[in-house]
Amino acid sequence: MKKIGTAVIGTGFWGKNHARIYNELESTELVAICDVNRERAKAVGSMFGVKSYTKSSQMLKNEDIQALSICTWSTKLAEETLKALEAGKHVLVEKPMATHTKQAEKLLETAEEWDLLLTVGFLMRFIPGLQHIREAVENKKIGELVCATARRVSQWPERIGDVGVVKDTAIHDIDIMRYISDEDPIGVYAKTGSMRHRKFEDYAQIMLTYEDGKSAFIESNWLTPYKTRTLAVTGSEAIMRLDYMTQKLWIEAPKENLQPRYPWQEPLKLELQHFSDCILEKKKPLITGVDGLKALQIAEAVLRSSAKNRAIKLK
Ligand SMILES: NC(=O)c1ccc[n+]([C@@H]2O[C@H](COP(=O)([O-])OP(=O)(O)OC[C@H]3O[C@@H](n4cnc5c(N)ncnc54)[C@H](O)[C@@H]3O)[C@@H](O)[C@H]2O)c1
Repeated sequence: MKKIGTAVIGTGFWGKNHARIYNELESTELVAICDVNRERAKAVGSMFGVKSYTKSSQMLKNEDIQALSICTWSTKLAEETLKALEAGKHVLVEKPMATHTKQAEKLLETAEEWDLLLTVGFLMRFIPGLQHIREAVENKKIGELVCATARRVSQWPERIGDVGVVKDTAIHDIDIMRYISDEDPIGVYAKTGSMRHRKFEDYAQIMLTYEDGKSAFIESNWLTPYKTRTLAVTGSEAIMRLDYMTQKLWIEAPKENLQPRYPWQEPLKLELQHFSDCILEKKKPLITGVDGLKALQIAEAVLRSSAKNRAIKLK
């Protein structure tokens, strides 16, 4: 089988994992990496035995590269994604995809114009327990969906210095709420603030409302001394709880409690496998550019709601 030539732009904490997985998958071959930090680029290039660059425009000339992961600082994601698309490459851009929706819109237009695949790194969607929840909600196995509550709290990862907790962290849960309900919220009310971070908000409490009366609650912060990543979904007949870290799922109903077991799988590996399958089979990815744009639009409304201290209507 011919492998897809891949590369990674931005090989810090997270991009290094993308490089490792492209190197491991049967269907992909890591061709090169790029990082503006010369020492890091050299070290990661030699770790995987591939050519390293400090300027992406140089690397993008390489015709053996068909697809890229963009894992730079959040404020550089859109710029690097645009360059990669304009060089004719398929792109998986990390969340939050762009810092502003205008930049994200430009990426969607460019991908469409060049007929390229553009997907966003909302890797939680690949966790089997979340897929189970999505399917159970769709088939009303827990009755009518009433509400969902997500908690994603931990200490501030100090390397994240260019966006706040909403665009960095809560955005995962914003996407998950859209995914499990298969619907866009119609309103948002949020409280955000900063306790320790100098430039950006480091906590956020978010309420999303839906047309039919259901709601979603998201608590995100960089203040809690331990790390929690959970989801609880309340239906009229049962509730489901997922721990994203252990990937354990619980279903509790009045007459029985179930714990469907799925073996733990590395979400990033599932995500990159899916990315490469979509390229090979020319199919639509589970997460589209539109999903990235919509999550960013909601994240911006969260910040506006908190600044204005009022609920914001979403279009
Ligand atoms: N999906 C997830 O669960 C997940 C998890 C962690 C990080 N991320 C995302 O991945 C991205 C990177 O996060 P990180 O934790 O690895 O940060 P990091 O600071 O450890 O790494 C970023 C790297 O990008 C490099 N860089 C910056 N601008 C560049 C450019 N224009 N060209 C080439 N290299 C450039 C930096 O030198 C650095 O090595 C962020 O957008 C973050 O939101 C996503």
